[in-house]
Amino acid sequence: MDKLQDTFGRKINYLRLSVTDRCDFRCTYCMSEKMQFLPRSEILSLEESLRIAKTFVGLGVNKIRLTGGEPLVRKDLPWLASRISELNGLRELTLTTNGSQLPQLAKPLAQAGINRVNISLDSLDPTTFRLITRTGNLQGVLAGIDAAIDSWGSRRIKLNTVLIRDINHDGSHELIRFALARGVDISFIEQMPLGETGYHHADSYYSNAELLALVKQQFEVVPSVENTGGPARYWRVSGYETRIGFISPHSKNFCADCNRMRVTVRGELFPCLGNDGMVDLLPAIRTGDERRLLELIARAATLKPQAHIFDISQSEPRIMRFMSRTGG
Ligand code: 5AD
Ligand code: SF4
Repeated sequence: MDKLQDTFGRKINYLRLSVTDRCDFRCTYCMSEKMQFLPRSEILSLEESLRIAKTFVGLGVNKIRLTGGEPLVRKDLPWLASRISELNGLRELTLTTNGSQLPQLAKPLAQAGINRVNISLDSLDPTTFRLITRTGNLQGVLAGIDAAIDSWGSRRIKLNTVLIRDINHDGSHELIRFALARGVDISFIEQMPLGETGYHHADSYYSNAELLALVKQQFEVVPSVENTGGPARYWRVSGYETRIGFISPHSKNFCADCNRMRVTVRGELFPCLGNDGMVDLLPAIRTGDERRLLELIARAATLKPQAHIFDISQSEPRIMRFMSRTGG
């Protein structure tokens, strides 16, 4: 079988697999207050998700990230994780989570073969945390972070923070100190205009360039030479292991070495987060037509655009899909 490659010569070796569009939080940049979730009949069964994972690994994908919505609200996730982690050719199985269910699930997920975990944490102030997540509880997430450090060790944990101007941008120092104290990495992600969230991005967007200037006022940071192959650029505080990452979809264009595609829980294959192009894998999955599935994936690779098209100067988002639908 040929390995997956797009028309710009980029190798696709990374799949982000969404296992639910649901979540126990309602983060303001990710969802609207009243979300319509998909009915059960329209979503992939875990066996179907496993078949998709297996097909992609056969095509040269060696890293899979389980995502959502919030993947931990999907029942039997450890079963899926352990089956995917056994696939021959897979190098790394990772997870993105809001952390709320980690006190119960960190151990079983680590045992199921999840190698590293990204945990969202936008603020250490309970009121701000609640304002951003609408329904989230900071104490629960902090307990989840502790459970994750217990299960995986701090060097396998990364915190993800989305900065929103005048809501949490001034909390970044505190978050960095928290990460330094625990020896975990932290990445700051520029807010992307996905779905009708009620934000006017020209106002709420806080750039990583501004953040870096702010960070430099408080910490002696040095650029880090390493690159994990992802879109983040890393800095370090001397004397600490923690890496501080900056993921800058607006101010830096990292599309040139994009290596990933995304499958939603509805079986839609999106070759790019920031474009509308999509190939529906569901019919081929439901009929068990493996040849058709391979054809559809190959077609999606040819659809992968050169770059994403976020435009924060517009009041309307160009991409109407919520992040919770595509997967983080
Ligand atoms: N812009 C940037 N990041 C987002 N996330 C969710 N929605 C957005 C958005 N509009 C992030 C979450 C989490 C991951 C799943 O994606 O904070 O870290
Ligand atoms: Fe849930 Fe994550 Fe979206 Fe927040 S960003 S609503 S935690 S899926």
